[in-house]
Amino acid sequence: MAAPEDAVPPLDANSVPRHVAIIMDGNGRWAEQRSLPRTEGHRRGVASVRTCVRAAAELGIRYLTLYAFSSENWRRPRNEVSELMVLLKRFIRRDLVEMHEENVQLRVIGSEDHAEDEVAKLMREAVHLTRNNTGLVLTVAFNYGARDEIVRAARALAIKAHEGEIDPAAIDAEQLEDHLDTAGLPEPDLLIRTGGEQRISNFLLWQCAYTEFVFCHAFWPEFTKEMLAAAVAEYQHRERRFGGIKARCSA
Ligand code: FPP
Repeated sequence: MAAPEDAVPPLDANSVPRHVAIIMDGNGRWAEQRSLPRTEGHRRGVASVRTCVRAAAELGIRYLTLYAFSSENWRRPRNEVSELMVLLKRFIRRDLVEMHEENVQLRVIGSEDHAEDEVAKLMREAVHLTRNNTGLVLTVAFNYGARDEIVRAARALAIKAHEGEIDPAAIDAEQLEDHLDTAGLPEPDLLIRTGGEQRISNFLLWQCAYTEFVFCHAFWPEFTKEMLAAAVAEYQHRERRFGGIKARCSA
């Protein structure tokens, strides 16, 4: 990253990314390096979630989307999956009141298939409770996979076309977007991945068409406000051209 990771760099308040999405990677490696169980890494990861939600609001970010559990994460050992469920439930039960007081609006993206009833219920209640909040929009990607999301959207459109509700020939990008889990959210301006890997891992494939990527070496349990600010500073040095489509079209 361009800026040092231990100091908040000066930021241009006029070009703070509206929507930041984060792949919170490296919990397991953080724990393994300390001879701790991987689940301890996830526990520390929740503390980083709290720090990050607060930091995002302080930096003026309007939308924060966190990849908490992918549709592929079910393949992990059973005890790790159940610990992640415990942590998610605890996060919603313990942190919801404070987030609600801080005017955070919680959203969830992903499929409810295979989700524990209790997790699904808690999430639905949290979304309902915070639906009118006007502060940071925190979207938790749970049991989320971008290919699955696009398939579900395509299926919903196909059903509507079959039932004569829409004209198949009129289906466009906007209609597809309206059927994605992220309908109503702006596209991410900045995607951060911690943990040193440089891949997108089936996260927001449609929505990240023109997103700027910043890869951070720190493991997620080490992620700080300063690192978030450093990623924002790096974003502010990028030149976004969106493929120059408008210029070419008007030429
Ligand atoms: C990736 O680390 C992280 C996850 C699969 C889960 C992230 C979950 C949390 C931070 C806790 C719960 C979230 C919320 C929103 C309360 P990894 O295990 O893949 O790490 P590794 O690449 O080092 O193995």
